[in-house]
Formats: sequence, C-alpha cells, structure tokens
Amino acid sequence: MFPSTTYASVFLVLILCFNGVSPSSTPTKIGEGYRLISIEETRDGGILGHLQVKQKNNIYGPDIPLLQLFVKHETQDRLRIHITDAEKSRWEVPYNLLPREQPPVLKQTIGRSRKNPITVQEFSGSELIFSYKADPFSFAVKRKSNGQTLFNTSSDNCDPFGEMVFKDQYLEISTKLPKDASLYGLGENTQPHGIKLYPGDPYTLYTTDISAINLNADLYGSHPVYMDLRNVNGQPSAHSVLLLNSNGMDVFYRGTSLTYKIIGGVFDFYFFSGPSPLAVVDQYTTLIGRPAPMPYWALGMFHS
Ligand SMILES: *[C@@H]1O[C@H](CO)[C@@H](O)[C@H](O)[C@H]1NC(C)=O
Repeated sequence: MFPSTTYASVFLVLILCFNGVSPSSTPTKIGEGYRLISIEETRDGGILGHLQVKQKNNIYGPDIPLLQLFVKHETQDRLRIHITDAEKSRWEVPYNLLPREQPPVLKQTIGRSRKNPITVQEFSGSELIFSYKADPFSFAVKRKSNGQTLFNTSSDNCDPFGEMVFKDQYLEISTKLPKDASLYGLGENTQPHGIKLYPGDPYTLYTTDISAINLNADLYGSHPVYMDLRNVNGQPSAHSVLLLNSNGMDVFYRGTSLTYKIIGGVFDFYFFSGPSPLAVVDQYTTLIGRPAPMPYWALGMFHS
C-alpha cells in the first residue's frame, strides 16, 4: 500500500515538474540560497536585515557568506530593495554620478541572534508591499490596490530557476511572473520584435559599440529596467522594475519567470508602482534623471 502510493506521488511530481519544460532547457540550480538571521527597523523608516548562506559551494567561486538586506519605501510610489556583501563594500553605480539615497553603512558586528524566529512578514508603503520568507530567504512585492504579486523570488522544486546566488563574480535572482503579463524594456539591444520581451529570446546587457544592423545584439547603453503591463479583470496597470547594476548580465525571460545572471556588483532593485505607463516613466526618470530637451535651433536644416 505505502510503496505504491509513494511511487504514484513521485510519478505525479515528475509529471508536474516536466510538464512543458524540456529537461535540456532547465538551468542548473546553484546552491540552497540564504537564510534571514536578523531583521530590524532603521531610524529612517527602512528595514535592515542580514542573510547567511545556507550551504557553501564553489560553483562560479565561493559564496559571499553574509549579506546585508536594506528595504525602504523611498517615496509613495518607489520601493527599493538593496542586497550586498555585509562585510565589505562592493562596486555599485557611483553615488556621485547618480545621486540617490545611500543604504546604511556596513556594520562592524552582525547580530546572529535568532531569539525571535522570523516567519512571513509584510512591510507596506502606500501602494507597494514588501514581504519576505526567512528560510530560504525570498521576497515578494505586491500591489495594495488589487492584491497582485508583481515580483516573487521564491523558488519551488519544479521552477526552472533556483534560489538567490551571491558570489563575487556571479549573482543570480529570479522572479515568477503571470503568463499574461506583457514586458517591455531591457535595452539597449536589437531584438527583431522591438522593445517587447519575448519568452526565450536572449537579452544580454554587455555594452558594446557595434552597428545596430546586427540582430539580437547588445548596443552602447545598459538599461536593466522593464515595464510590466497587466490586465486584472479588465483593470489595466503598469509598474516597472529597475535592477541598478552596471555589470554585464544575461536576463532570461521564460514567459512565467525571469532570471537575472550578473557578473558582479550588487542587487539594487527599484520598483515603481505606476499605475499608468506615463506615471511609471515619470517615477523612473525622477530617480535616474530626465532627458535634456534639445534646442530647436540644433535641429538645423532638419526642422520643418
Ligand atoms: C511567492 O511564491 C511562493 C511559491 O510559489 C508562494 O508560496 C507565495 O505565496 C508567493 N508570494 C506572493 C506574495 O505571491
């Protein structure tokens, strides 16, 4: 009785896992991720936590053992999630080139107290809600007004992606996505379909000075940002996700998930709540800067 039930459930799991995913397209899962070992509120209204690697391995180099997590609702419509090495500073887009709030300075001693076991918690702004799971650590971002999950890094056994990875020269993080979300962005490159993301297409950000006549190639600029348009029961909404990291990266969009694989730097996510595409662009350019208007005379003979 028992063995056959076990075989049946193993068989069921296999069917569920391989349904629609060919084994060759399943990327290797690296490691067991991190666990949250402390979390506290900061004086400026953010939250600060520490993550400890669960099981070290040497795939793509040793794991960074302790990470600092900083989360803050910086404005009504902007949520920032910053994850870096807790023990030494790492390369980030320089703060003098792109002026923005600095995460708290790294602590000299890191409390590993687990007096209050941490379970699912929420940290809410006016429209975006950050929530997390402690072990293995994952986070999600939800929209308050319609309950939609916008981003969710949690990985199940069947998912074609693993837990968060943080090495000196290899960072990986993924999110689940609803299959009917429409994504646009991840420039600059020459995808034949334009700026809409298509599942299975390669998106590499590794700035190169080549002619835009080459298809499926990356160009001069690196814009690791996408806008996600959704329709929930006839109600449209748009939001945007920026991963502020200037290192080379591959972004794998699979239709129901998206994985970033980066060769350095930190995870520095900014979520812009929209809800219209124009509001998203406004919120995004409030952070990264707006394009300068071109003087009319500079168009010379091309104005008409
Ligand atoms: C994130 O995904 C996990 C695993 O599928 C699920 O259990 C959890 O409810 C999701 N979280 C949110 C906020 O949607």
